[in-house]
Amino acid sequence: MPAIIVVGAQWGDEGKGKVVDVFSAQADYVVRYQGGANAGHTLVVEGKKTILHLIPSGILHPETTCIIAAGVVLDIETLCKEISALKTTGLMQNPKQLLISDSATVLLPYHRQLDQAREKALGHEKIGTTGKGIGPAYEDRAARKAILFGDLFNKETLKAKLESALKEKNFLLEKYYKTEPLNVDSLMKTTLKWAEELSHYRCRDTSLVVHKALKASKKVLFEGAQGSLLDIMHGTYPFVTSSSTIAGSALVGSGIGPSTIQKVVGITKAYTTRVGSGPFPSECDDEVGERMRQAGNEFGSTTGRSRRCGWLDLVALKYAIRINGITNLALMKIDVLSGFDELKACTAYELDGQIITEYPVSPGDLARCKPVYETFRGWKEDLTQVKALKDLPRYAQEYVNFIGSQLAVPIDVVSVGPGRDQTLWVKPLF
Ligand code: GDP
Ligand code: IMO
Ligand code: MG
Repeated sequence: MPAIIVVGAQWGDEGKGKVVDVFSAQADYVVRYQGGANAGHTLVVEGKKTILHLIPSGILHPETTCIIAAGVVLDIETLCKEISALKTTGLMQNPKQLLISDSATVLLPYHRQLDQAREKALGHEKIGTTGKGIGPAYEDRAARKAILFGDLFNKETLKAKLESALKEKNFLLEKYYKTEPLNVDSLMKTTLKWAEELSHYRCRDTSLVVHKALKASKKVLFEGAQGSLLDIMHGTYPFVTSSSTIAGSALVGSGIGPSTIQKVVGITKAYTTRVGSGPFPSECDDEVGERMRQAGNEFGSTTGRSRRCGWLDLVALKYAIRINGITNLALMKIDVLSGFDELKACTAYELDGQIITEYPVSPGDLARCKPVYETFRGWKEDLTQVKALKDLPRYAQEYVNFIGSQLAVPIDVVSVGPGRDQTLWVKPLF
């Protein structure tokens, strides 16, 4: 059963979009199974950049069916805009390219308003969310009062659910957060308009579609959003997102069983970045980090925020490999490290005077960890035109080999630029 899960092995923005776009040339289906429009997945084809928030990164391949599964929180306003932009540029030609699960959770403007109001109220303690309403939408799901995508097509159900939601949300917005409430009638009107636009993509049971595809030996890619260290259960809580971002979530979010999975591909940069608050032991809050930020264009694809940058953290990566069951790795953005005299990789932490090599799951402990580094010689050459792994400069090869041997997982892909063609294959994935 050729089913492959692609997950972020760090704090997000590892380059999942690029990898999924490249693999999609061979995939029959690409499934987004968690997260929402907090994701920003960048695809660069022949110099043209496309940033996707909700639509799976297989969409530029017209023969590939893209699925938004039940585990996603679906910002229907953003999705309408995203579809319309893709249609305008001619990148999406056929409505059959996209299927949306009736069971996906609908995210509406009040979720965004609540997210932003909460962050404002938290002040310095804020999580640094994307402000896209992700937390409040997943809360509704867990509280069993979410509006599901299928509800959008039954006016009475939708009206009743919206009225009930706004009763509570408006109370919070107005009385607690002192912001503007929403009007039921106008929200009903715009919601129906968005529903009409999205009705072409409606699929009652995407789990069944995926199941049948796998049974027929079709190639299915599961596209993770965010990164392992942002996982609600196993990440740097509370500085995490509100969904499970690890490989197990692909099964839960799309409704399939674990025995169908062939590989779990972890995506990592050759260094580390993080957006928002929370511990980051190998962060370089100095000219080194600034240089990575500029060279790697480390500004958020969703919010434009500056990403925090630092050296590769092998302790955290080993943890990600463990909690995801990662079988193969893609090493991204190695081109960004050209020109450094020396490079570092964190191989252990010092915690309260002790050297540890296992990632501490307590965020309090992680916040006190100091990185222990191994140092490498850098290289001067530009890597962006390199076409084969053997043509990488000697010190770049040594760096890649060191990472592979430390992590004891094969590195199947090395990426030397944002473009589809700037991808060095060690081994085809499917
Ligand atoms: P995602 O959220 O994991 O899909 O990653 P993002 O798209 O948010 O961020 C990754 C950024 O790095 C995007 O701007 C990509 O175009 C870019 N990118 C991906 N791979 C490479 C690479 O190998 N080298 C360089 N320089 N940029 C890359
Ligand atoms: P992709 O899929 C990087 C971070 C936010 C914040 C925390 C919680 O592009 O890798 P949320 O809005 O989810 O409640 O924010 O999670 N975050 C991401 N960081 N890449 C992402 O997605 C992210 N999605 C959320 O910055 O720290
Ligand atoms: Mg991103």
